[in-house]
Amino acid sequence: MKYAILNGKMIARSEAKVDVEDRGYQFGDGVYEVIRVYNGKMFTAKEHLKRFVKSSESIGIYIPYTIDQLTESLEELIEQNKLHLGTIYMQITRGVAPRNHAFPTADVTPTLVAYTKEVARPEDSLNSGVKTIIMEDIRWLRCDIKSLNLLGNLLAKQKAADEGCFEAIQHRGQDVTEGSSSNVFIVKNGVVITHESNNLILKGITKDVILQVCTDNNVQVEERTFTLEELEQADEVFLSSTTSEVMPIVEIDGKKVKEGLTGPVTRKLQELFEREIAKQCGNLKHEFLL
Ligand code: PDD
Repeated sequence: MKYAILNGKMIARSEAKVDVEDRGYQFGDGVYEVIRVYNGKMFTAKEHLKRFVKSSESIGIYIPYTIDQLTESLEELIEQNKLHLGTIYMQITRGVAPRNHAFPTADVTPTLVAYTKEVARPEDSLNSGVKTIIMEDIRWLRCDIKSLNLLGNLLAKQKAADEGCFEAIQHRGQDVTEGSSSNVFIVKNGVVITHESNNLILKGITKDVILQVCTDNNVQVEERTFTLEELEQADEVFLSSTTSEVMPIVEIDGKKVKEGLTGPVTRKLQELFEREIAKQCGNLKHEFLL
C-alpha cells in the first residue's frame, strides 16, 4: 500500500482527501515543493524545505513543523513507500474555510500534504536534448513564490506540448525569464549566463547547485538578464529543474541550437551535477553519461 502524509499523519494514499472548501482547491491559496529522491535518499532536501518555508511565510502561512521535523517525516514516507527513484510532492494550503477572497479571520489549520511518485531519470533526453518554443511570459510578478497558482505556467507548457516540444522558454519583452517549470541558461564563449534570482523567476534549487559547481570548478558564470537575441546567438542552451536536472536544449522554435547537439559546457555541467548527486545520495546505477 502506498502512503501519504496528511496534516502530520501517515495514511493510505487513497484515504488522503481534502474538503471542497480547502483554499488550495478553490483559490490556489498555498505553495508547494517537488523534491528528487535517488537511491532512496532526498537530494538537496534542506534547500527545498527552506524554500518551502520561505514561500509559505511570504503569503502568511506558517508551517507548524520545523525543517528537521519535516525532514524526518519525509524520510519515513520514503521508507514506507519503498521509494528508490522518484519524487516527493508536498504542498501546504491556508486550510478549510467558507469561501471568501480575504484570509479567514478565525484560526484555520493549514492543510499539509506529502506523497511520493516513482519517476525515472529522463536519460534519453539528457543525452540527446529537447526541443523548445519561445513564448511571452504572462505570469504574475511574484514568480519567486512557488505558488499553487500555475495557470500561466500550464498554458505555456501545453503550448509547447501541442507543438511537440518539451518546454516553453518565456520572455518579458526582450528579456528571457525562465521555462514554464524550469530555469534557462545560455553559454556564450564559455560563460554560463542565467537570469538573476529576483521576483520574475523561481530561484531553482537545481539552478543554485549548477551555479555552485560552476564556481567550484572555475566555470565563469553571470547571473543577469539576457535577451532573446542572446538566446538566438548562444553557443549552448540548457534548462534545469528537479526532475530535468541539466537538460540540453537543441532546438528553439524549429531552429537548431548550433548543430543541434549537446554542447561541451552542458556536458561538463551534467557530469559535475552527477557528482553532486553521488555525494548526497550515493552512486547511481544507470550512469547515462557512460
Ligand atoms: N518545477 N522555474 C519554475 C517555474 C519551476 O516550476 C521550477 C520547478 C523551476 C526549477 O526549480 P527546481 O530546480 O528547484 O526544481 C524553475 C517543479 C519541478 C515542478 O513544478 O514540478
